[in-house]
Amino acid sequence: MEKYLLPHSSLEISRLIFGCWAVVGGFNWGPQDKRDSLAALKEAYDQGITTFDTAEAYGAGASENLLAEALGKERKRIEIASKVGPGDFLPQDLISACERGLKNLKTDFIDLYQLHWPNPEIPLEDTLGALQQLRDQGKIRAYGVSNFGVKSLETCKASGYSISSNQMAYNLLFRAIEYSILPKCVADEVPILCYSPIMQGLLTGKFSSEIEVPDDRARTRHFTKERSQSRHQDKGCETLTFQTIGQIKAFAEEVNIPMGNLSLAWLLKQNGVAAPIVGGRNAEQVRRNMGTLQVNLTADMVNRLEEITAPLKKELGPNADLWQTDSRVV
Ligand SMILES: NC(=O)c1ccc[n+]([C@@H]2O[C@H](COP(=O)([O-])OP(=O)(O)OC[C@H]3O[C@@H](n4cnc5c(N)ncnc54)[C@H](OP(=O)(O)O)[C@@H]3O)[C@@H](O)[C@H]2O)c1
Repeated sequence: MEKYLLPHSSLEISRLIFGCWAVVGGFNWGPQDKRDSLAALKEAYDQGITTFDTAEAYGAGASENLLAEALGKERKRIEIASKVGPGDFLPQDLISACERGLKNLKTDFIDLYQLHWPNPEIPLEDTLGALQQLRDQGKIRAYGVSNFGVKSLETCKASGYSISSNQMAYNLLFRAIEYSILPKCVADEVPILCYSPIMQGLLTGKFSSEIEVPDDRARTRHFTKERSQSRHQDKGCETLTFQTIGQIKAFAEEVNIPMGNLSLAWLLKQNGVAAPIVGGRNAEQVRRNMGTLQVNLTADMVNRLEEITAPLKKELGPNADLWQTDSRVV
């Protein structure tokens, strides 16, 4: 497995990261069998993934607990990336949140600790100062951010504190960060960790129309605001989304690469991307996703995928918040 050295740290992450959100089921995902989750995590590790992304928010600590249960005995050979929620950005709250994370994860350090979403109510410099304090104490090895837009990234840069990554929604069906966030991250040397890299399964071709997509997963701005879990006021673009999926699927068949692997391999070709963070609810999905590492896209293939997805990129525009019109990515 190829590694990627995060800046301002000695932290090397695997170029595919396993995402530990869906494996706890519940919100967004529905029922999940714990045996499948443990098997998925073990498979990811056995196949060479060493970096695991989690958050206190995933099942109120359940995802951190699950990771400890599945891979606790490999602690020295894995890197744990966790996140602190924006409600805990006051320095004392952040330090308490980290202590809870360490307890949930049954470890004495977190490799990468990330600010989950911006919180404009709390001075970012204070929050970054608390992260630096945790780092100085050896409780975290590096810190990063997530869902940070250009303004917040600018504040990070001006603060003098050095962030090691920005975790953003990025995939062939959601290219919003390309307008200004990705160029800013490249300029500031802040690598991107891509979440929802197969658009929560849509990029495997498993759904052939919007009707098949469960309501809790159809919350994104691709879908009509009439969907029951929706929080946005956009009109949605379901027809264009499924036309685009159809075209990617046809291209995947033409080049004989599974669509999910093609989508992940495309991300690995993007300048500024350190790693996609891909979820998997069982060992079989993990095995299939690992096929990505055998794929090497040519420049023509990359261009073709960008042509196919350009109309959807234009339709959804530069708002990098997958779920809200009133963007929280600031
Ligand atoms: N920072 C943030 O705000 C943020 C937000 C979201 C996610 N994340 C992180 O990013 C990670 C990944 O994102 P995500 O879970 O939203 O989406 P994703 O990785 O794009 O999609 C994962 C889902 O796709 C389906 N799937 C995976 N492999 C498959 C395969 N080979 N064939 C068919 N279906 C497959 C599975 O769900 P089904 O089997 O149910 O279809 C799986 O749970 C999360 O676990 C989390 O760590 C971070």
